[in-house]
Amino acid sequence: MFRTNYCGQLNEKNVGEEVTLSGWVDRRRDHGGVIFIDLRDREGIAQVVFDPDAGEFFHLADTLRSEYVVKVTGKVRKRSDETINPSMKTGEIEVYGIFLEIYNTALTPPFQLDDYVNVGEDVRLKYRYMDLRRTEMQKNLRFRSQVTSTIRNFLDSHGFLDIETPIMTRATPEGARDYLIPSRTHEGSFFAMPQSPQLFKQLLMIAGFDRYYQIAKCFRDEDLRADRQPEFTQIDIESSFIDEEDILNLSEEMIKLIFKNHLQKDLSNFPRITYKAAMDKYGSDKPDLRIPLELIDVKDLLKDIEFKVFSGPANDPLGRVSALKVPKGGDLSRKQIDDYTKYVSNFGAKGLAWIKVNSLTKGVDGLQSPIVKFLGDDVTMSIMDRVKASDGDIVFFGADSYKVVSDSLGALRSKLGEDLNLYESEWCPLWVTDFPMFERTDLGELTPLHHPFTSPSGDIDALKESPESALSRAYDLVLNGVELGGGSIRISDQQVQSAVFDILGIKEDEQKLKFGFLLDALKYGAPPHGGIAFGLDRLIMLLTKTGSIRDIIAFPKTQSAACLLTDAPGEVDNEQLVDLNIKVIRNQ
Ligand code: AMO
Ligand code: AMP
Repeated sequence: MFRTNYCGQLNEKNVGEEVTLSGWVDRRRDHGGVIFIDLRDREGIAQVVFDPDAGEFFHLADTLRSEYVVKVTGKVRKRSDETINPSMKTGEIEVYGIFLEIYNTALTPPFQLDDYVNVGEDVRLKYRYMDLRRTEMQKNLRFRSQVTSTIRNFLDSHGFLDIETPIMTRATPEGARDYLIPSRTHEGSFFAMPQSPQLFKQLLMIAGFDRYYQIAKCFRDEDLRADRQPEFTQIDIESSFIDEEDILNLSEEMIKLIFKNHLQKDLSNFPRITYKAAMDKYGSDKPDLRIPLELIDVKDLLKDIEFKVFSGPANDPLGRVSALKVPKGGDLSRKQIDDYTKYVSNFGAKGLAWIKVNSLTKGVDGLQSPIVKFLGDDVTMSIMDRVKASDGDIVFFGADSYKVVSDSLGALRSKLGEDLNLYESEWCPLWVTDFPMFERTDLGELTPLHHPFTSPSGDIDALKESPESALSRAYDLVLNGVELGGGSIRISDQQVQSAVFDILGIKEDEQKLKFGFLLDALKYGAPPHGGIAFGLDRLIMLLTKTGSIRDIIAFPKTQSAACLLTDAPGEVDNEQLVDLNIKVIRNQ
């Protein structure tokens, strides 16, 4: 027998029992002829004591080192009052060892498991199986498993069927590059790994399954950030004969249940905001509503001034001039302001004008700023009025195209929220709705804001007439400034689908080649349908407050999309390449 109990589950109730434990040696200490072993398994740690009465096992206990794998049999006894350890779950008891077996020895760990802070992430990822032994990582992955179970139960009980969709497939456009799999049997042809199960879940609706879900692996070759992985997991949902309201309500119910069950938090109803209002107010389509700051437009006040930096965008229909007031931000130093100026330049801003409000009663003389002299007294005071400035505030300004000002002040808003800890609440979920159908790329081409299967809000004629102003039936769920999920009501009419492809510049033969199966399927009786997908990794990252998506994935990839543990991606034998008819061309 390997075990009667888990180490971490022993307590006073077990006193007097003989137990057998199996686990890892967390620590061995020698105390005046008595050997203490902290034995660890996934449930926690129990203290085992061997004294010389244990004979040969006492001597064996002396040979134990960290991370040896052992079996111990012993009697549970209460610790004496002075040795009780209140910071340990099993701190009231210890196991008096009478038997010991070593299953396996271990090399000295590459890093101390309880002292990981100073270890670089590269080392942690290379020895991931050791890193995962740490309590925090055990907790994270267990939490993830429990949340996934809640999600499955919720969706099962709402009549959703768990159906798997292929990994070896055709490209599903979600805005990233594809990971490709070369085909040996079809020379020169490639499968694409799915960026999402989007097309298959729609086909399942056409096939009459009515309600589908899948905890689905998705693959995207894109620039990685703290909340992105090349291989990640979606909670993917699709349903027929539903509208936006049904999906938003179902999703909200699910997220609330997760918070209730796993964080003991009751969330109130999620506010909704249109894309346009979110950009106007927060400069972002995934605003962090924990931060009370808002962008305030001052364009109308600046049309007639000499200062071209402001009057230029103020007189441009596509321009934007906005203020961002930071209450009590007047303490920011020149160095901090310079750093923020550098920060917004990452988002295209050419500068970051500011006014510090020292004493409003003194009018412009009570202000400190590099731009007041360019604005004039009246305009300056009108701005102070508009933003409802008070003594001690700082007001930042952005003047440029609508996009640059929104992006830069939106990012500055989040950064200030974090740096100055302006958060007013712990959890701020919200729905963003009424997204545009398309946006223009830097090259001036139209591209879908979500994916090309999203239904427009208006009819096909309106869409064709002015695609750029067309709105879509898409929605995103945002939590604390992170895009947690997104979905839409889909196009279920083949003509509308073709029209969207046309607008995107996908010619008819290319439509047939890439999406012919979808266009055909839409002709065989497609129900109205829609759905949503949540980023499971991001959800767990937020719930556990880990800050890095890699800390809640067992075997994640690095920022450069590599696996340090297995050293993947790796080179392959020439023979394999020949089989696949592939020749590697190396860039010198
Ligand atoms: P979307 O592309 O918005 O929608 O993806 C849905 C959610 O998946 C998460 N996500 C990611 N998480 C980690 N790493 C990544 N690289 C990554 N990319 C996306 C985000 C995101 O909100 N088929 C549509 C859904 C639908 O329309 O039903 C889709 O994939 O949390
Ligand atoms: P300048 O006249 O270029 O020295 O700019 C005066 C102030 O305006 C400086 O504080 C700049 O950071 C700021 N500034 C310059 N361009 C912009 C812009 N496009 N938006 C906001 N502030 C700007």
